[in-house]
Amino acid sequence: MTGGSRDRSWITDVQVCPSILAADFGAFRAQVRELLDAGARTFHVDVMDGHFVPVITFGHGVVEALAGDVHERGGALAVHLMVERPERLVDDFAKAGADAFTVHVESTVHLHRTLQLVRESGMVPGVTLNPATPVALLEEAAREADNLLCMSVNPGWGGQRFIPSSLERTAALRRLARPGAGVEIDGGIGAETVAAAFRAGANRLTAGSAIYGASEPGTAYRELVALVDAARDVGTP
Ligand code: DX5
Ligand code: ZN
Repeated sequence: MTGGSRDRSWITDVQVCPSILAADFGAFRAQVRELLDAGARTFHVDVMDGHFVPVITFGHGVVEALAGDVHERGGALAVHLMVERPERLVDDFAKAGADAFTVHVESTVHLHRTLQLVRESGMVPGVTLNPATPVALLEEAAREADNLLCMSVNPGWGGQRFIPSSLERTAALRRLARPGAGVEIDGGIGAETVAAAFRAGANRLTAGSAIYGASEPGTAYRELVALVDAARDVGTP
């Protein structure tokens, strides 16, 4: 089953999304189930190829291993491609059960075609950019994308410090987002930054080490959700 047949409301819902980059690589299924039990539904999956970034993580096989559990609970797998020429991987991830496929503007000279391929595959097309890449470079791609992701650290590693200018960049991405598109923020999201990121315009707050690095990941997840809920109660600008 590919991503095309599932409900897509998660793209615009307000959610805290665990990033499995910070999970125990020997226990992905158990760690995802633990967060499903805590209430998480959208999981962020970081694919790194050792070229676009120095690190190698994992490929579509991990998505395939997790898709059954996540979809059974009404959840989604949002894949963040930190790879050169991600267009080569669209089919594999669609077949594995990925729901969204978000690529870097810096990673392919054929961004428009890649986003079209992703949409045709049934996955949600997403686009992102490194912290020093001007947001304006996404202006055209934003017409083709349903997920605009603000990298709030440099891609490649979890556990880095949040880059403060990411708040302005998130707001700029929200202005570029079409109706029905979501804005995600990724990197350095934790108790100190999650509410500000939400107020800046992100509806999906992705967190790796703040959740899976905690002694009780489910509790850490619920604490972040509570902080976002409190920010929602006082309204968004
Ligand atoms: C970094 C990844 C992030 C990472 C975030 O390259 O894109 O998704 O998991 O990790 P934390 O939340 O620890 O900054
Ligand atoms: Zn990521």
